[in-house]
Parts: sequence; structure tokens; C-alpha cells
Amino acid sequence: MATDSNTARLIDGRALAANLRTEIASGVAKLKAETGVTPGLAVVLVGENPASVSYVTAKEKACREAGMYSKEVRLPESTTEEELVRLVRELNVDPSIHGILVQLPLPKHISDKAVIDAIEPAKDVDGFTTVNVGRMLVGESCYLPCTPHGILKLIEFSGMDVNGRHAVVIGRSNIVGKPVAALLSRKEVNATVTLCHTGTPDVSRFTRDADVVVVATGRPGTLVGDMLKPGAVVIDVGVNRIPDPSRPRGYRLVGDADFESCSRVAGAITPVPGGVGPLTITMLLWNTLEAAKK
Ligand code: GUN
Repeated sequence: MATDSNTARLIDGRALAANLRTEIASGVAKLKAETGVTPGLAVVLVGENPASVSYVTAKEKACREAGMYSKEVRLPESTTEEELVRLVRELNVDPSIHGILVQLPLPKHISDKAVIDAIEPAKDVDGFTTVNVGRMLVGESCYLPCTPHGILKLIEFSGMDVNGRHAVVIGRSNIVGKPVAALLSRKEVNATVTLCHTGTPDVSRFTRDADVVVVATGRPGTLVGDMLKPGAVVIDVGVNRIPDPSRPRGYRLVGDADFESCSRVAGAITPVPGGVGPLTITMLLWNTLEAAKK
């Protein structure tokens, strides 16, 4: 039982990701040896959003380290929707490419939906196309979206069996909040799920009853310790840059949860960085290997 002097266990996303990536790298080596196929991932970035640049660089590096082929496509901010859709269609028919990732957000003059839905669902390793989201909701075979899938792995790794437990998700984004709520409520996972969002007047009313809290709002300090039930598992999806002149880069990363106060109440918590992020990339590699096997 957690107390005031409690310090939550760290859920080490880097360690879990390293184990899974070893398994994926063996899968890649086996596929190459047996069929001559090297899984190929195209990573498309439009513009120079600093956070997006660092995410896609990490994805490309992880892909190469797993023995996969990484096709890196960098386009200027001025790229039109039509040009981007044309590129996606070329990648759809490129036999060396098994997975296509278009980093979001896209510049404002481009519709995310138009571009994402141009991706062939069989190569949609992010699980973002309307077709794959629909398949996920009805429980058909599909690529699960990477961050929500990684969150399920982290909860399992924390030792918490969520079957019959109360999970509260804060944030209703298409990329994290909505899909993670859907996956947690699947029969195989079997949590009772509450989805809180900006229209929820008193989020703590729900989080104080939660066995697991997934916070994905993009706002530091969304979750603080006194909103938690002692012993709860906290999965912090936020990656926020806070100016910090004492750091060489001039900023530090914090999550959406106030780590210090939450650690005093939670049973286990993911750090930022080193929690959810490494799993997102790992599940992308997982999906790309699956795509190459088909
Ligand atoms: N932007 C933030 N997270 C993601 C992600 O998982 N995939 C893509 N394509 N864009 C993102």
C-alpha cells in the first residue's frame, strides 16, 4: 500500500523496449534468411517541427538497428497536399516498402485525413487510416496504433492485471486517447474505462477511483498526486519541452503528470523520457515486421 513516504516503482520503457527489439531483430534476421525479404519502412516528414524531427530521426535509427531498410523522405513545409498524396501512392506500390509512416502533425494547409487515408491499409503501420481504426474498433485483424499498443505492453509489464479494474484515460485524441480507451475495453483486456477530456468538469472525481490512469493531454501538470488512488499505475504519454537554461539544449522534457507528486502516491509510473516513447517506436517496428511477413 502506498503512503506519503511512498516512491512509485519506475516502469522502465527503455528496458521493455530493448527486450522487444531484440525479439524483433531476430524476426527480421529470420525473415531475411528464409525469404530474402528485408522489411522496409518509409518515414515521411514535411517541414521542420523540432519535435517531429527528433521523433522521426529516432524512428529511422531504430529501424536500421533492427536490420530493416529505412527510406527517409524529408519534404519542405511548402509541399502541397497533392504532392504528398502522390508520394504516398508511389510508396503504396513500391515493393521495397512494407510500411509507410507520415509524421503528424502536417502543415496547416494539408489535410491529415486526406494524406493518411491515401496510405494503403496493408502498409499503414501506424494504424491511423480510417479503415484500420474501424477494424480495430470491431476487433478485426489490423495494425494496432503504436502508442496505444505500447501502453498496453507497459501496463502488462508493470505487473497490473487490469481485468475488471477501472482505467481512466485523460485526453481524447485520435492518436492516443480514443484508441487506448477502445483497446483497454476489449474483452481480452477487460478494464472498465472512463474517458475524461476538456469537457469533464472534475477529472479527479474519476482518477481517485482509478487503478490505472493514462494521461495524454499535452499539458504538463494535468495529473497531480492528490488526484490519485494510492498504488495506482500511471502511464504518462506527454512529451513537453520546458525551457531550462541549465540544460545544454536549453530545455528539458516533462510529461503530462507531475512526476514528483504522482510518485508519492502511485504504485508505479512511467518516466518522461524513457517511458512510453521507446514503446511507440518499438510497436512501429513490430508492425513493420508483420507487414513484411505478409
Ligand atoms: N505524431 C505524434 N505521434 C505520432 C505517431 O505515432 N505517428 C505519426 N505518424 N505521427 C505522430
